[in-house]
Amino acid sequence: MPSLTTAPDAHIRLLPAAKQGLPITTTTQGLQEIAHNHITKGLGRLRDHVFKEGKGLRVLTTDGRKLLDFTSGIGVTSLGHAHPDVTEAIIAQAQSIIHIQCAIALSEPYVQLVESLLTMMPDPSLDSFFFWNSGSEAVEAAIKVARASTKRNNIVVMQGGYHGRTSGAAALTRSKTSFFKGTGPLMPCVYTTAFPYWHPMGVPKETSEEELVRQANLSIDNLLQQQSAPEDTAAIFVEPVIGEGGYVPAPKAFLQHLRKVCDKHGILLLMLDEIQTGFGRTGKMFAIEHSGVKPDLIIYAKGFANGMPISGIVTRKEIMDSMPPGSLGGTYSGNVVACAAALATTTYMRTHDILGNVNERSEQIFAGLRAIQADTANGGWMIEEVRGKGLMVAMEFKDPNSTLTSSHSKGPNVTLPPNLNKLVQDACMDRGLLTLTTSIYPVLRMIPALILSEADVEEMLSTMREAVKEVARQVEGKGEPEQTGEVVGAAHGGAEGD
Ligand SMILES: Cc1ncc(COP(=O)(O)O)c(C=O)c1O
Repeated sequence: MPSLTTAPDAHIRLLPAAKQGLPITTTTQGLQEIAHNHITKGLGRLRDHVFKEGKGLRVLTTDGRKLLDFTSGIGVTSLGHAHPDVTEAIIAQAQSIIHIQCAIALSEPYVQLVESLLTMMPDPSLDSFFFWNSGSEAVEAAIKVARASTKRNNIVVMQGGYHGRTSGAAALTRSKTSFFKGTGPLMPCVYTTAFPYWHPMGVPKETSEEELVRQANLSIDNLLQQQSAPEDTAAIFVEPVIGEGGYVPAPKAFLQHLRKVCDKHGILLLMLDEIQTGFGRTGKMFAIEHSGVKPDLIIYAKGFANGMPISGIVTRKEIMDSMPPGSLGGTYSGNVVACAAALATTTYMRTHDILGNVNERSEQIFAGLRAIQADTANGGWMIEEVRGKGLMVAMEFKDPNSTLTSSHSKGPNVTLPPNLNKLVQDACMDRGLLTLTTSIYPVLRMIPALILSEADVEEMLSTMREAVKEVARQVEGKGEPEQTGEVVGAAHGGAEGD
């Protein structure tokens, strides 16, 4: 192989600044000030701490705090921060070539990634791929493919579903209005059907799954008769575990009904948003595998490149081939460094028992959280429900604004605050544990790296136990808030959404 020159810019003259050095801020306070004054307020942020280093589930801040990360950057660093296999692949690729525009040439990692992914699909019919950068962009691509391949406009989405913040993806989002409030009109022709989750359905938590599914099935059946004729309906978008909407797994019978509806009308596509649930997160490689239902298209992103921005869609070749050349693409689409990272991540997943670890740790987490819930004398009474799938873990707290969860047995003098999830999250944060909140309900969620150990889980549970106990003490009026750590403050009103 011929070699290329390593100093192609030797002729570019240096400016005086090269000798003097450029000013650059390194202090935590200085960085926070720049962020405060010059970064959009449109970004929500949990706190203005600055992460400097990450290894596995540990993160170090610029002011020296060590945190246990049960967020994995919202389901992204699935092999843990800076996994050596992925880091090495990124370095090797960056030393070779960093950008190969997809309309100009193929790259080895792009094609090899396809080869790797083909072996991981839940169904062999899913055999045609397209890569983009973010989850939202992949959702945009899925909308295009759905419409182009069916020659129909209408899209059905789930109440509480989240598909992203770009224009089309936001039009499909039903988890919170904050993602699109004041920015309309959004893409038309989107219809909402019920998802089997007791809270938005306005029924008690004790309602049987069978009844929830019955009502949700009725909702989609009615929708296709009253709002969007099957002949006009291109696709149903569904997350197999509703993510931003509150970590609620879709019951198997519901997904089976959606599949039946799609098959009956022949022309509908079941578009599965596995952006958060895919690549081992729920204990199967894809969450749809829990149901045995065959999707027509899967949208993926987040956890399959361990931190590099890459997303994509996969569908059957005959569906993907409805897209003429040039209709899909983008400057960074399938960036070669991101593809190399995804190839390393998927190679790891294909050669290590990652699913075994997810399932073992999941059992440990759910048992531990249910024990905290059962310990009513130490705050467990505040927890309405512990739920999720695999390593998507949520606790929904009691909510004074909802007649469905407000009952508690602590007497008339105990007034429930509306944000128990945020209070517990804050108490965890003060003790060095990073968690997330989600949905319009008081839900606290955790989505740790898939490689977490038994000891990591024990540490999380012990912190969570203390946090719940401390918040309960405050709510029950038995104590002043404990000052256990520095509180930088949620300068942006806290984290908002995925
Ligand atoms: C289910 C789901 N769909 C879509 C998205 C949007 O992805 P992104 O934030 O990469 O645009 C997310 C992000 O959290 C998600 O969880």
